[in-house]
Amino acid sequence: MPEISSRFDGLGVGFAPYLQPPGPEVVRWTVGEPGFSTPDEILNAAIKELEEGNTKYTRGAGSMELCQAVADYLSKHHDIVVTAEDVVVTPGAKQAMLYSFLITTMPGDEAILLAPSWASYEPMLEFIGAVPVHVPVRKEDFHPDLQAIRDAVTDKTRMILLNSPCNPTGAVFTPDEIQGILDIAIEHDLWIVSDEIYSRMVWVDWPHVSPAALPGGKERTIVVNGWSKSWAMTGMRLGFLTGPRNAVKAAVKSQANSASHVPTFMMEAARVALSCDDAVMKFNREYRKRRVMMRDGLSALPGIRVVEPEGAFYIFADITGTGMSDTEFADGALEAGVQLIPASLVTGGEGFIRVSYATDEEAIEEGLDRLRNWLLDE
Ligand SMILES: Cc1ncc(COP(=O)(O)O)c(C=O)c1O
Repeated sequence: MPEISSRFDGLGVGFAPYLQPPGPEVVRWTVGEPGFSTPDEILNAAIKELEEGNTKYTRGAGSMELCQAVADYLSKHHDIVVTAEDVVVTPGAKQAMLYSFLITTMPGDEAILLAPSWASYEPMLEFIGAVPVHVPVRKEDFHPDLQAIRDAVTDKTRMILLNSPCNPTGAVFTPDEIQGILDIAIEHDLWIVSDEIYSRMVWVDWPHVSPAALPGGKERTIVVNGWSKSWAMTGMRLGFLTGPRNAVKAAVKSQANSASHVPTFMMEAARVALSCDDAVMKFNREYRKRRVMMRDGLSALPGIRVVEPEGAFYIFADITGTGMSDTEFADGALEAGVQLIPASLVTGGEGFIRVSYATDEEAIEEGLDRLRNWLLDE
């Protein structure tokens, strides 16, 4: 049997080992997926398109109507001013990330990640031969250490990856921090890839700010975003990117040579979703409640320190006070009937666990009860 290429040697799969569905008796706090159904308006739009036979090849970057709706959405919610031609709709934000990495790096080039970061960035960069350079965030609040980022820039650095609100830490970088990172990128002529998939989920009183909305930011920032999180559309695989014209042209080529385009009948559904603000606000009201339940419940457990979760739907908790390593803690929790993620699976996450409060209130209450019984019995 022929060998597969060495490209896959040692390639990670992120949090995958801990995302396997456990038995039905286990409470799952692992999956970064909204516990809500996709809103009916969106489903109905997709069904109507199917019934009308919109199942053939179409414009690679997405229908003009959809790209225009994305441009309008970005201007309305995030002060990012682009035209429909500057938007490429992709199969999930994940694919847009891959295009962004291909566009900003060559094999051997360095990309700065703020550690701990989302588990897919590192393997995705390694997959294409780029070199992830992990710069730790401040452990007390998971905000960026600007001096450390500056110190990590070498003559091989091409890109800084931003993800605010952040998976896994829940940090929302302040406008000044975003400006500080942009200043470093301008000074060293670097790209910024800004993963803004959680941009509507901010629970603090400073706003999400995109570097693309700041002076000097638009020409060096590729913004990645998508429908999975705020509209509960994870399985529909819809994301997008926008950026300067040369980057968008390269993204169009990347898509033409890989996915072609997202399913034609989903384009209208994605367009409809962008105006479903009521659904986004309804989900957000629930997340705010669940965040407080999870934060207060975990904080009351012995040996666990919870850093204030500022955005997205994750809590990143320091469990070193329990005397266990994060994998021992996750294994013990699973035995107690709660699935959560030991953060040492990603660089810089040692001693922390990640829990998602996107799950329903019952699962939060039940999981907290189980952890309480387990930890108080120890
Ligand atoms: C930070 C971050 N970026 C991107 C994605 C991928 O989103 P999509 O489902 O649109 O591919 C996720 C999903 O978990 C994520 O947490």
